[in-house]
Amino acid sequence: MIKNICCIGAGYVGGPTMAIIAQKCPNIKVTVVDLNESRIQAWNDADVNNIPIYEPGLSEIVREARGRNLFFSTDVDKAIDEAEMIFISVNTPTKTYGIGKGMAADLKYIELCARQIARVSKSNKIVVEKSTLPVRTASAIKSILDHTGNGVQFQILSNPEFLAEGTAVEDLLAPDRVLIGGDSSQEGQKAINQLVNIYVNWVPNERILTTNVWSSELSKLTANAFLAQRVSSINAMSELCEKTGADVNEVAKAIGMDSRIGSKFLKSSVGFGGSCFQKDILNLVYIAKSYGLDEVADYWEQVIIMNDHQKRRFAKNIVKTLYNTVSEKKIAFLGWAFKKDTNDTRESAAIFVADDLLAEQAIIAVYDPKVKKEQIYIDLNYLETRSEQQNSKGLVVFDDPYEACKDVHAIAILTEWEEFKTYNWQNIYDQMQKPAFIFDGRNVLNKKELEEIGFVYQAIGS
Ligand code: NAD
Ligand code: UGA
Repeated sequence: MIKNICCIGAGYVGGPTMAIIAQKCPNIKVTVVDLNESRIQAWNDADVNNIPIYEPGLSEIVREARGRNLFFSTDVDKAIDEAEMIFISVNTPTKTYGIGKGMAADLKYIELCARQIARVSKSNKIVVEKSTLPVRTASAIKSILDHTGNGVQFQILSNPEFLAEGTAVEDLLAPDRVLIGGDSSQEGQKAINQLVNIYVNWVPNERILTTNVWSSELSKLTANAFLAQRVSSINAMSELCEKTGADVNEVAKAIGMDSRIGSKFLKSSVGFGGSCFQKDILNLVYIAKSYGLDEVADYWEQVIIMNDHQKRRFAKNIVKTLYNTVSEKKIAFLGWAFKKDTNDTRESAAIFVADDLLAEQAIIAVYDPKVKKEQIYIDLNYLETRSEQQNSKGLVVFDDPYEACKDVHAIAILTEWEEFKTYNWQNIYDQMQKPAFIFDGRNVLNKKELEEIGFVYQAIGS
């Protein structure tokens, strides 16, 4: 029986995942460690509303388990030493240098973890890959552990995480499946069982799937590729709908009722964002190419090409509709996060649309209920398209949506926050330049209602 777990990486996956394990397994001590001191400090903040990740329901769980059997610390060595099972949940971003730049996953953080585990461990450990990794990474981890360790035994498991941000708690409490890949040897099977025994505390047995390590690693990339592919597929149809008078929502409903297709993940949008879809597909493309599978690589790359096109054409359409010039015109952005119910902005479509409109000298007024002002500038400055000074002149952040929309020529909906539906749109309309345009990049507002007020309303795909 596992009594002590360590998780390296206190991010969007490590934090929520371990909070649930701690909540559901009060007899297991769970320590989440990270090099980032301010992040750990925030996880330990006396006020649980200040934890660094916003997820509905998460702060309540942290309140319950923190200090009882859930701990957050920067003392990585100590937590590794004490644990029988170590989850690696560090980031695996797209490489920004060298071979595979812009495509392959950067595994330096993973390797650092493996070396640290090898150096510190004085007793046998089960090492669990929680991060999303290229297929066959476990063999590299094993090689490092076996060659640099202190002669202790390591078992490597792959246990990819399928939670989506904004619904992390729900997804973790009732997962469609838990996937565990391990070695076929007796020790491998024993390690798998030890991890299964943790999940059975709240996940029905039939939802726990065990496979070999490579299937598990590759299934994670495949799942994200399939999900992103659906978004790109419906987005491709959205452009055709706009040309032909079809309505993408009606098309999505019609095809989604076919039980073979299914209704989920058919929401047309300004483009998918988030830290994983693009990164994981690029990684898949890179892996396929590295095996010489060019047709496989090209097939999946098209999902990204379509997504880039969707973001770009949203911005282009705003310029075109506003009489081919947005120079000095104020445009409000409602939403900056890559989806609702999260404060995560990584790869959010809003960043790229803002960049394109700033290039046309528009002035952008942003409101997002959960994203901090500093983060918005960090996102924009990271692109290095223009100076920080130019960005802060061109884009202004508001903490009141009505203020953000005052005097603007157009409003662009970039995130599907529920609260947007509850606004007093008549008030907003009254304070805007006329004609008052709304570009709904999420298909969330009520067209009829807005047109009755007087707005010129355009949604993706209709
Ligand atoms: P994140 O950037 O939010 O968190 C990663 C954390 O790891 C950071 O806080 C970083 O400081 C820490 N870290 C890096 N190297 C470290 C080291 N050597 N020692 C200690 N701490 C270290 O990333 P995330 O969103 O939680 O994603 C983590 C992994 O999970 C990625 O592989 C990602 O693809 C995968 N994933 C993410 C999601 C999601 O919704 N975000 C869902 C499923 C899977
Ligand atoms: C996604 C997967 O859904 C998770 O299963 C996976 O664990 C995770 O990636 C990961 O590996 O990081 P996430 O990116 O958090 O989760 O959120 P999604 O709900 O998948 O949305 C991704 C993007 O696609 C968002 O920008 C969202 O707005 C967009 N989207 C989603 C659409 O435009 N239309 C849809 O129908 C669905």
